[in-house]
Amino acid sequence: MTPPGGRRPAEVRIAASILDANLGALGDEIRRAEAAGADRIHLDVMDGHFVPNLTFGWKTIEAVRAVTRIPFDAHLMIDEPGRWTGEFLDAGCDSITFHVEVAAPQIRPALERIREAGRSAGLSVKPATPLSALAPYRDLLDIVLVMTVEPGFGGQAFMREVAEAKLGAGRDWLDPEGACEVQVDGGGRVETAEVIGRGGTDVIVAGSALFRAEDMAAEVERIRSIANAARRAGATSRA
Ligand code: DX5
Ligand code: ZN
Repeated sequence: MTPPGGRRPAEVRIAASILDANLGALGDEIRRAEAAGADRIHLDVMDGHFVPNLTFGWKTIEAVRAVTRIPFDAHLMIDEPGRWTGEFLDAGCDSITFHVEVAAPQIRPALERIREAGRSAGLSVKPATPLSALAPYRDLLDIVLVMTVEPGFGGQAFMREVAEAKLGAGRDWLDPEGACEVQVDGGGRVETAEVIGRGGTDVIVAGSALFRAEDMAAEVERIRSIANAARRAGATSRA
């Protein structure tokens, strides 16, 4: 992961969401994603309150941390991220992103704690939440995660209008040359890679597209190359 204060990576990164992996063999599935060329593992934590679904918690993340050295990005879709920040840090997450829609008093202290641990801190916005909701936390953000589906389930349809409205705007709002990154989550696949790349997006989360693919490595490569080409074209047209 780019260290805080480092430069913005030139190429788009692919983060494999394990939501649609075979959770009975999670360690093997993470190795499979790494071997297929994924740059990171994206871990969707759900509590049945913030979203109407349950997944896994920090104990599971801790148990699989040792199977790979590629970064672990945690995406916490839980009501009380501030309560569990220490556990997710101890579990070995390289970045922790949670939602700006949670109760506000915990947001700033949790972001500060993540940063103090030397990890990357992120906030995510649901499709209906404007980017302006992130403004009070701008000084503490390494990651802005734009949801292009309603959080809760893998395999949903990509919301193109949300991507078009927020990805480029999010990128422009962050330091254009700094290490801060825009991630897009929900419906990332070959068919959506062009609009994602055009927005200057730094990290594409892909779950079902990878874990349901016949050839995961080919899928990673196709998404990456389409997004990179669009990203370069977008950068040229903005210059
Ligand atoms: C949705 C999750 C996403 C999702 C990605 O709440 O945050 O990470 O599982 O899965 P796909 O790529 O299938 O939309
Ligand atoms: Zn996610």
